[in-house]
Amino acid sequence: MHARVVTATAAAALGCVALLPPVHEVRADTAVRPSVIAHRGASAYAPENTLAAVDKAASLGVPWVENDVQRTRDGELVVIHDDTLRRTTDVERVFPDRAPWKVKDFTAAEIARLDAGSWFDAAYAGARVPTLKAYLDRVERHHQKLLLEVKNPELYPGVEQQILKVLGNEGWLDRRHVTDRLIVQSFSAAGLRTVHRLKPGVRTGLLGAPAVRSLSRYAGYADLINPSHTALTPAYVDAVHAVTGPHGAPMRVFVWTVDDAATARTVAGYGVDGVITDKADVVRRALYRRQG
Ligand code: G3P
Ligand code: CA
Repeated sequence: MHARVVTATAAAALGCVALLPPVHEVRADTAVRPSVIAHRGASAYAPENTLAAVDKAASLGVPWVENDVQRTRDGELVVIHDDTLRRTTDVERVFPDRAPWKVKDFTAAEIARLDAGSWFDAAYAGARVPTLKAYLDRVERHHQKLLLEVKNPELYPGVEQQILKVLGNEGWLDRRHVTDRLIVQSFSAAGLRTVHRLKPGVRTGLLGAPAVRSLSRYAGYADLINPSHTALTPAYVDAVHAVTGPHGAPMRVFVWTVDDAATARTVAGYGVDGVITDKADVVRRALYRRQG
């Protein structure tokens, strides 16, 4: 295991004091199981999928963040969960005549005008829907790891290739990132198959809980199976671990979305490899209390 500590001094050296919380201790937790993953960033405490949510995860000392990637009308990749802008921005106020406010119907410049923070808390007024490029830059700056979700690839033909291109351009497909700092996940098995075909070195995770008898079918291109905690049993975790994934290691399990201490301890007891949570501090405390 290696450790990275980013201090306010280091942030100042990077010229980003105004952007970063004052002190971070971000630990790569390759030797710690299960990993804790901040779902849509630290989304219980900052508006989901914004740079503020990445910063908050860093300030909590959480090495992994999860996000959701979609595409604008003019082909920009942006980080947002829903396929409409309605729930997490002020799009209805800014563009009242553009219902149903689909991400794919707006240009990047239009989306850049939207406030993606006020719906969550007035303190976050002015937060923006980040581009994938800006998001990667922030995650990198914090030395975090990324669980990138390809959202609704059926709506965005070619999006898998486009995501890989941006990842490559931003330095996220080098050996260090691919082996330790990046996993691409999706509910779409076809989307993951495409990612694996285009970049076989990238680790991938299939969201959902496919039947045990079908796990070997996914093992050709999925390194992880990532189910909801409501679908999880110890036997299911064992069954996934018994299958060898595309990179020669046992398939892993990252479970979502676990926000309370009791459930975190339960799924850890099942042997999961990662816990995806809106409340990373709660889960960390539940699982690693002695580490503070
Ligand atoms: O990472 C798991 C989780 O993000 C999948 O569900 O709807 O929050 O993207 P959703
Ligand atoms: Ca997601």
